[in-house]
Amino acid sequence: MLSPLSAPVRVLEDSWKLVQANCIECHSAQLISRNSSCREVWKRRITWMRQTYELHELETAVEDSILNYLASNYGQKESTRRAGLAAELLPDNPFGAD
Ligand code: HEC
Repeated sequence: MLSPLSAPVRVLEDSWKLVQANCIECHSAQLISRNSSCREVWKRRITWMRQTYELHELETAVEDSILNYLASNYGQKESTRRAGLAAELLPDNPFGAD
């Protein structure tokens, strides 16, 4: 019997194997996993490596699978910085010109 988790886990494993097979020949996997972006930006990075560093052509299905994997596991993050405070909420600047 299939466990409810086996299908997604399988897809994840297959996609990770494609990244392993195509993406860690020139640099470490950490360079990939510490980045996070939407699919479009991941695609631009691949194009950039192709143009600049002779990254080999990837079959469309392979590239799609890699992009889907990266975008869903290393996707765009929400900004974690709070918005700046309004000027009237800031303390007086002792060095400011008045
Ligand atoms: C032909 C060699 C090569 C292969 C194969 C390769 N890359 Fe790269 N990649 C590079 C080089 C060179 C850099 C720049 C490294 C640096 O700045 O130290 C880079 C940088 C990166 C960066 C950082 C980009 C940034 O904005 O700092 C990411 C992310 C990345 N690669 C992902 C991938 C992925 C995903 C794959 C597989 C589809 C891949 N790489 C395959 C050569 C390659």
